[in-house]
This record gives sequence, C-alpha cells and structure tokens, in this order.
Amino acid sequence: MKAAVIYASTTGNTETMARAINDVLKETGNEVVYGTATEADKALVTGCDVLLLGSPAMGAETLEDSMEDFYSAIEGSIKGRKVGLFGSYDWGDGQWLRDWEDRIKNAGATSAAEPLMVHLTPEDSDIEKCKEWAKSTVK
Ligand SMILES: Cc1cc2nc3c(=O)[nH]c(=O)nc-3n(C[C@H](O)[C@H](O)[C@H](O)COP(=O)(O)O)c2cc1C
Repeated sequence: MKAAVIYASTTGNTETMARAINDVLKETGNEVVYGTATEADKALVTGCDVLLLGSPAMGAETLEDSMEDFYSAIEGSIKGRKVGLFGSYDWGDGQWLRDWEDRIKNAGATSAAEPLMVHLTPEDSDIEKCKEWAKSTVK
C-alpha cells in the first residue's frame, strides 16, 4: 500500500505518534510519504491509498493551525480515499477528532480506523497502540 503520514505537533507528542506509525508501516512493507503539514506535498499525499493525518487538540478543540491549513487545502481531493486521524490531547474528551472525522466523511472519504488519541506524551503502551492502529489502516 502507499500511505501518507502527515502531522502537526507543537511539543512533539503527536510527532512521536507519527514516527511510530511511519516506522511500523515501513517495517511491514508499505511505501510511506512522511512529513509535517507545513512541508507536505499535497499532490503526493492525495495520490496515496491511505492518508493518516495527525494533529494535537488546540484552541478550543480545534486542529493545530498548520494542519488546519493543510487539511483545508486537500479536503476537496480526498473523496474515495481511506483516511485515519490521530493526535495528542490533554484536558478534552476527543471532540477535535470527532469533528475532524465528520469533516472527512462529509468530504466523501472513508474512515481507515477509529480516530486514535493519546493523552499528552505517548508512553510505551501508547506507542504499541499507535503501531497496531497503523497496521489496521493498511489491511
Ligand atoms: C494553546 C493550546 C490549546 C490547547 N487546546 C486543547 C484542547 O482544546 N483540548 C485538549 O484536550 N487539549 C488541548 N491542549 C493540550 C494539547 O493538545 C496537548 O498538550 C498535546 O499533548 C500537544 O501535542 P503536541 O506536542 O503534538 O503539540 C492545548 C494546548 C495548548 C498549548
């Protein structure tokens, strides 16, 4: 499978998730386009079979700014794609990921897996969850 793992992260927590996801997808033989929302090549990303997008909860349950910009720019080009969402949070209950999932469905994409959220810094058990989650998105 050809997968994209694109993330935004302000203190490294969502980045740690993204790195684990990228590592396991590569280890299991997938081709991966990996990088930040700021640097990602939009055409390359929307050409992938599976798009895994990560953002921390920011503002009041919103996407981090650079991911909001990136996602808004590709939103019209993800119809029919499989999309999986992940990110780190602190005090909320995951509203930012539920809202984001509504957006991907309204854009005509399908969910590659239930959104994956990790509280603050991923621990070893969270890293394992990220890896299992990533493998389930490319089945
Ligand atoms: C300005 C700001 C806004 C935040 N807003 C939320 C929020 O709405 N809900 C929540 O659960 N956590 C919120 N957080 C906590 C972050 O999501 C949390 O620290 C997360 O681990 C950051 O991940 P990152 O290192 O990938 O940026 C906020 C943090 C900051 C600094």
